[in-house]
Amino acid sequence: MRKGQVDVFILLLFFSLSSASDQRWRKAMISAYNGSSSSSSSVMMNRVGSSILFPIHGNVYPTGYYNVTINIGHPPKPYFLDLDTGSDLTWLQCNAPCVHCLEAPHPLYQPTNDLVACKDPLCAALHPPGDYKCESPDQCDYEVEYADGGSSLGVLVRDTFSLNYTNGIRLSPRLALGCGYDQIPGTSNHPLDGILGLGRGKSSIVSQLQSQGLVRNVVGHCLSGIGGGFLFFGDGLYDSSHVTWTPMSQEFTKYYSPGSAEFHFGGKATGIKNLIVIFDSGSSYTYLNSQAYQAVTVLLKKELSGRSLKEAPEDQTLPLCWKGRKPFRTVRDAKKYFKTVLSLAFANSGRRKTLFELHPEAYLIISNKGNVCLGILNGTQVGLQNLNVIGDISMQDRMVIYDNEKQVIGWSPANCEHLPRFRSYM
Ligand SMILES: *[C@@H]1O[C@H](CO)[C@@H](O)[C@H](O)[C@H]1NC(C)=O
Ligand SMILES: *[C@@H]1O[C@H](CO)[C@@H](O)[C@H](O)[C@H]1NC(C)=O
Ligand SMILES: *[C@@H]1O[C@H](CO)[C@@H](O)[C@H](O)[C@H]1NC(C)=O
Ligand SMILES: *[C@@H]1O[C@H](CO)[C@@H](O)[C@H](O)[C@H]1NC(C)=O
Repeated sequence: MRKGQVDVFILLLFFSLSSASDQRWRKAMISAYNGSSSSSSSVMMNRVGSSILFPIHGNVYPTGYYNVTINIGHPPKPYFLDLDTGSDLTWLQCNAPCVHCLEAPHPLYQPTNDLVACKDPLCAALHPPGDYKCESPDQCDYEVEYADGGSSLGVLVRDTFSLNYTNGIRLSPRLALGCGYDQIPGTSNHPLDGILGLGRGKSSIVSQLQSQGLVRNVVGHCLSGIGGGFLFFGDGLYDSSHVTWTPMSQEFTKYYSPGSAEFHFGGKATGIKNLIVIFDSGSSYTYLNSQAYQAVTVLLKKELSGRSLKEAPEDQTLPLCWKGRKPFRTVRDAKKYFKTVLSLAFANSGRRKTLFELHPEAYLIISNKGNVCLGILNGTQVGLQNLNVIGDISMQDRMVIYDNEKQVIGWSPANCEHLPRFRSYM
């Protein structure tokens, strides 16, 4: 089949370059802000026990992403953002004016003139250390480039975010966001207003909220297998004792990674080890490096041999699809063929291994032709090199929690169709 046919979408920050290092990029036409840029909302200080909850929309297939509505500006306007734990910066397509913007559901964001200065630590956090010159001290230029080839170039501004705690109290912090005035679409582009960066870095929205004392620096999501779900900031919406926790790698600090794993097939170790695994809600599918991908496909084909499923190369939904006697409607229909649980075993510094299990629902989809397709793809083929990416498909129907304060990642089975109940903090 033709390469590149697959609707690949991996939002994972690959590079972030200072525009000062390249003449090609223009400067934003925003005049420097002259005044105080300190944040408001001190009323909300000390409410660190509170959480912020957002319903989300979308699905793995056919939509290919999950989106959250965030209200920004004064008066607040809604924007649909792609939730991405694979990158830090939140940005909106922006009228600075816009050099190149892509189709979006809402009018372009009109930036404030409250510019983040180049010397601001938030700006430094978006640039590789060392390679960071302040050409214009009044503004912070950024460029982010994602693994699917897409990119955004712009300038950091501060604006008001309208958020609500679960106890109903409103807050309107001023947070830094990217005003993106020059976007290049990736291999698959989604009609959204921008990206909600939820990564480990200082510039992420949650880290900014934490530094203002508004929430604990914890991000969680629950992606429902039937579509929709929720996203939350803070640690008030789960019972930690029911969560399987594993430490975040101190070696791969750019991403949410529990470090390296061994691949297990049907409960047995395969000998394929040292897989560097990251969790990335900006990727719809899961990607394994060529060696592990090869093992999955060979072992699954072996398991299916002699069964009535036939490979369906004519179905180009994903690289590997199978046709049954009758079209499948749900993954459950296909489960009599696929019984295998795949898992990634993380060795937490000598302690007992922590397993991240993938039941068939976490690695299969049903295409619009009624075939069952493998939602694990060859990461080497799309340029991920040795990174293995756990995408949305494998995080469905559980809470995945990134606790940046304790530096742990956790997961627990959950019903993502219903917003969680929460205690009142009043
Ligand atoms: C900022 O404001 C001060 C006084 O309000 C003025 O002296 C200064 O020139 C202004 N700077 C810029 C860059 O506009
Ligand atoms: C994003 O989510 C909103 C609901 O919050 C929904 O109305 C909208 O259709 C979604 N947009 C896209 C482009 O998926
Ligand atoms: C916050 O709550 C108010 C009602 O108290 C509601 O009008 C508003 O839409 C909510 N804002 C968000 C961002 O959910
Ligand atoms: C995965 O992609 C790489 C690079 O394109 C290719 O060399 C390799 O054969 C692929 N692996 C499998 C099992 O298809």
